Amino acid sequence: MIRAIHSFPRGFVWGTATAAHQVEGDNTNNDWWAWEQLPGRILQGHKSGKACDWWGGRWKEDLDRAAQSGQNAHRLSVEWSRIEPSPAVWDEAALDAYRQILRGARDRGLVPMVTLHHFTNPLWVAEQGGWLHADTVALFERFVRKVVPALQDLVDLWVTINEPNIYSARGYVTGEFPPGEKDVRKSLQVARNMVLGHAAAYHAIHAIQPQAQVGLAHQFRGFRPANPRNPLDRWVAQTRSNFVNALVPRAIHTGRLQSVFGSQRLPQAARTQDFFGLNYYTVERVAFDPGRAGQLFGRGFFPQDADLSPTGFIANEPEGLWDALTWAQSYGLPIYITENGVEDDGDQLRPRYLATHLRQVWRAVNFNWPVKGYFHWSLVDNFEWERGWTQRFGLWALDVATQARRKRRSADLYEAVCKANALSSEMVATYAPEVWEALFPGSPGG
Ligand code: FCB
Repeated sequence: MIRAIHSFPRGFVWGTATAAHQVEGDNTNNDWWAWEQLPGRILQGHKSGKACDWWGGRWKEDLDRAAQSGQNAHRLSVEWSRIEPSPAVWDEAALDAYRQILRGARDRGLVPMVTLHHFTNPLWVAEQGGWLHADTVALFERFVRKVVPALQDLVDLWVTINEPNIYSARGYVTGEFPPGEKDVRKSLQVARNMVLGHAAAYHAIHAIQPQAQVGLAHQFRGFRPANPRNPLDRWVAQTRSNFVNALVPRAIHTGRLQSVFGSQRLPQAARTQDFFGLNYYTVERVAFDPGRAGQLFGRGFFPQDADLSPTGFIANEPEGLWDALTWAQSYGLPIYITENGVEDDGDQLRPRYLATHLRQVWRAVNFNWPVKGYFHWSLVDNFEWERGWTQRFGLWALDVATQARRKRRSADLYEAVCKANALSSEMVATYAPEVWEALFPGSPGG
């Protein structure tokens, strides 16, 4: 019997999120494919290969799974290197394939949200300097001006660029993403060009499709000082948060790019979001480390008692999502949680991660904050960038060799939530009993 219920507003958007390179397979013409061929770049030498074979048609069965389990939306990305394999050469067959996928999503009752740039660049863009090069802004705009007219009858929700902060940090500070640079100033230049790319795309989309809703998917990462009484630790937390969290959203709101290196005016970027796209995974502790000038004098780690994912990538910190939402709603825009999830092959942690994070989303809607939807990362296990297949984020497990899918219990929990448009104490008692008491204090029995 249901004893307590956290209801969501009517019409709440429930979906999962994917990205082209991670699910399609055979994306041989982009910088990630090239990166995968280099020794030592991907854990255990893994390759994206056929990925989830969406390009071979398996999107159909996966979107069936999404729709049958109560979801009403899906976030996916289109692959620039397929649509524009060489400069200004357009592959109409690739655009048609995306039209089929988007039509297929809609036929299944899944509202599509389409990301135009999710980490990958065509090889020819990468070879001419990628996002470090200011010319890429215009190249991206040209791509957007081709894609949007071709897909606009099927798509109203656009995400221009996924996580400029993570892209610029991992490609240009830590060097785990291509092109593997370690130079904070270059990463700032990349972030600047991505802000300009976003702004150009925003204006282009609205010129073509005035009623479109256009945003950017921003990853908020929590930074807490390792020792809150240590001013240097506090300084690191503040500096990191400014760099990672504040820089890009502030720039596309105010038209100013402000960092420790100074301030630049980018007036064309001001007020270029119709909604706030929020990706949230975790919170880390940070400590001052004088030996790490290249990483803004900081060292990040998870505390010993953290509720960690199997490969130690994510700590279960649901309050961090609350912090993220508190900050995001200060922009006064509708909010979509465009990604949230955890890698957990054994599905031990994911049910409680999901339940406790959805509880934070419910807190926000309960305050009438304009949270419109939630996209779980991800529908099915997919290729996790430099971590290859070692991390499993899917509600469905994937056997990469056979392409077989297996439903995890978390998918059952998410299905129950989507179908009820609510998180109930009964669901939590069934799927994540260990957090039942924390979520429903004082409720009688489970
Ligand atoms: C995000 C990426 C997404 C996926 C998740 C786990 O940073 O946007 O593609 O890799 O992390």
